[in-house]
Amino acid sequence: MSMERRGKLLDAAQIRKDFPILSKKVNGHPLVYFDSAATSQKPRQVIDGIRYFYENLNANPLRSIHKLAEEATIAYNAARDKVAKFINADPDEIVFVRNTTEAINLASYALPLKKGDRVVSSYLEHHSNILPWLRLKDIGVTVDFVDVDDEYELDMEHYRSLPNDTRLVTVSHESNVSGTVNDVREIAALAHEAGAMVLIDAAQSAPHMKIDVKDIGADLLAFSGHKMLGPFGIGVLYVNKTLHEHMKPFLTGGEMIESVRLNDVKYQKIPRFYEAGTQDVEGAYGLGLAIDYLNRIGMGNVEAYDKALTEHLFDSVRSVKGLDVYGGKSGKYGPILSFNVKGLHSHDVAYFLDKKGFALRSGFHCAQPFIEDKLKANGTARASLYIYNTLAEIDRFAAEIKNIARKYGRI
Ligand SMILES: Cc1ncc(COP(=O)(O)O)c(C=O)c1O
Repeated sequence: MSMERRGKLLDAAQIRKDFPILSKKVNGHPLVYFDSAATSQKPRQVIDGIRYFYENLNANPLRSIHKLAEEATIAYNAARDKVAKFINADPDEIVFVRNTTEAINLASYALPLKKGDRVVSSYLEHHSNILPWLRLKDIGVTVDFVDVDDEYELDMEHYRSLPNDTRLVTVSHESNVSGTVNDVREIAALAHEAGAMVLIDAAQSAPHMKIDVKDIGADLLAFSGHKMLGPFGIGVLYVNKTLHEHMKPFLTGGEMIESVRLNDVKYQKIPRFYEAGTQDVEGAYGLGLAIDYLNRIGMGNVEAYDKALTEHLFDSVRSVKGLDVYGGKSGKYGPILSFNVKGLHSHDVAYFLDKKGFALRSGFHCAQPFIEDKLKANGTARASLYIYNTLAEIDRFAAEIKNIARKYGRI
């Protein structure tokens, strides 16, 4: 079945049939899964595909020469090809890692950063795009954080006046708290003008929009398979070819070498250079199937549907009294709504919603500096949606929030 439906919204009812977990009941209510920014649900095509892998292809790729290992190698390489095509990169530029966190940590260890260099991150970042850079302070690297304005937009002036010692600009494509979509193309252009490299944290954007690393101008780009319909344990670090010869080893061991003598080691080239030891082959295979699934829908259709969900989400809560809503004021947003019910902690809001079958995250969402310093909150409740959510679920959600605000909040 072709799910490509140009010109009209994708058919969420049809898509939902592919996600077995969505027919589950939680606390006596149909599950409304609004926690896709934490991890997405998985379609049957991915779940069944992983089973197929173990029943038909399971061997350790790139090592043994027997037939089965050759088939596993073909499957592993095919997954890399699919990822490369998905973001308009070459397969040699795709390193499989566990997740976005590992991808950014790898970059922080492997990039040629040294004492006196400057890394520029931002206030909008997830902890995994803050902590790996803060660690570099120990070796004398300066780390700056670009500010955000009242509408959670990054201070572009900062990027226009980057100091000469800036070696790396690292920024999220989409905030996991406010849903703000940053103009990473412009940021990359400004960083390059200043002679700096650019790393894009695409953990929240890769599931939702067409990414073209060449068009953005990304030198490095990181994302996680589990947030884009794929399995846990597999992620990607894209590394532009021009950086390869400058990068240092990260993990060392089996299969990342050409030859080993006790006094002379010759390494493989990237990506194998960064894939020491046995890899998550099942994960890579599953990610390839998730990409197939997204491609069948078409990322343009995913984006159009996201837009409809996001608009309806913000419109629906706008009239609810007693809420603080963080985002949706201007600019471009992904389908993420961070909010608080005045007078309640976000965990209480998530608890009340859970009792009605709604799965939402609450707290700091691994972005404590942004939430405490910029939103001036001690956490938020967060609804994050994806292709299997519906406008009707949003209506039920808004009604439930209204109840909670009226019953327990401070209006
Ligand atoms: C913007 C952003 N960056 C990085 C991460 C870390 O992703 P992972 O936990 O898959 O490593 C997340 C996870 O929520 C995220 O939203």
